Amino acid sequence: MSAPQRLFAGCTPGLEEALAEELGALGYSGEVVGGGCEFQGDLQHVNLWSRVASRVLLRVAEVTTVEQLRALDLSPYGARFEVDAFGVDAGRWGAALPSTAGALKLVLRGTKRGCQVSLDTSGELLHFRGYRQEVGRAPLRETLAAGLLRLAQWQPGEPLWDVMCGSGTVLIEAAERAAGLAPGRNRSFAFEQFASHDAAAWAARPRAEGAVKTELVGSDLNAGALGTARRNAKRAGVLEALTLERLDATKLQRRGERGLVIANLPYGKRVGDRDELAQLYRALGRSLTAACSGWAFALLLQEGAEHLGLRVEERHRVSNGGLDCEVVLGQL
Ligand SMILES: C[S@@+](CC[C@H](N)C(=O)[O-])C[C@H]1O[C@@H](n2cnc3c(N)ncnc32)[C@H](O)[C@@H]1O
Repeated sequence: MSAPQRLFAGCTPGLEEALAEELGALGYSGEVVGGGCEFQGDLQHVNLWSRVASRVLLRVAEVTTVEQLRALDLSPYGARFEVDAFGVDAGRWGAALPSTAGALKLVLRGTKRGCQVSLDTSGELLHFRGYRQEVGRAPLRETLAAGLLRLAQWQPGEPLWDVMCGSGTVLIEAAERAAGLAPGRNRSFAFEQFASHDAAAWAARPRAEGAVKTELVGSDLNAGALGTARRNAKRAGVLEALTLERLDATKLQRRGERGLVIANLPYGKRVGDRDELAQLYRALGRSLTAACSGWAFALLLQEGAEHLGLRVEERHRVSNGGLDCEVVLGQL
């Protein structure tokens, strides 16, 4: 690991606490702020190992004048930057540095005293793990799936059953965690383009740590979705760890004494879908109560949690692809 740097890890709104908890498990203590966490850490390590962060910014400097901005020594990173300016006079501050499309991204953000200068170290957003080439009809970002598992306090070793697994995002995230695989092991990052990047040391990075044997089951009514889940899991290298079955979540049979039953429920896009969804949620609630008593549940949905008829102990608001959603947690 290199010397700690001032970093900001961004995440989906609503996952800030889950991200702080994950950073804690990675050995960092962060300050939760809107949209992420500020902390001191190793940017390579966080990019490679965070499952919840959507990107990692390096806090380069805070300047109060355009001259200071122009005088910053950015040579350890590169010679050309694509400049994104928020809350600053783009003409004044942005013009201090010429912007080159496609170069390393420099983010200028207005502050009370001037301008905060940050460098994007991730490149493509971190939910792109490199395995998912196919998605189902309503796919979940990998970072939100990982956050959902954190909010539910799931730990490798605890049986997990996704009863509406779709293309398998939650299961694959859980399987990678249980196998101790770094989520970013199959992708590249913007920091690899930094002038000061030590490519030899990076090439020798560990990409996995200890595995914990875990029962991971996914079921869905849609055979096509299960095929997609199978192929995504194969590309991620975790297919062997999963049991995938075609089952109706409203007619589940008992399977084990304890564990976490999870699902990203279908949402209604049109008003006419509402009654149908309420009916599905009621049937799902009854099925879970009958088949999974003794299990914990974690359900991600947009609205209509009351139709489940389950005793919800915790709720967390999260944004899912721009939609206001919630995660409901409890015990069956
Ligand atoms: C929002 S999607 C889940 C997406 C999934 N998280 C992913 O990453 O692809 C909802 C899933 O519920 C499934 N589903 C709907 N009704 C079901 C039922 N009665 N039993 C099992 N699965 C059902 C759909 O086939 C769909 O795959």
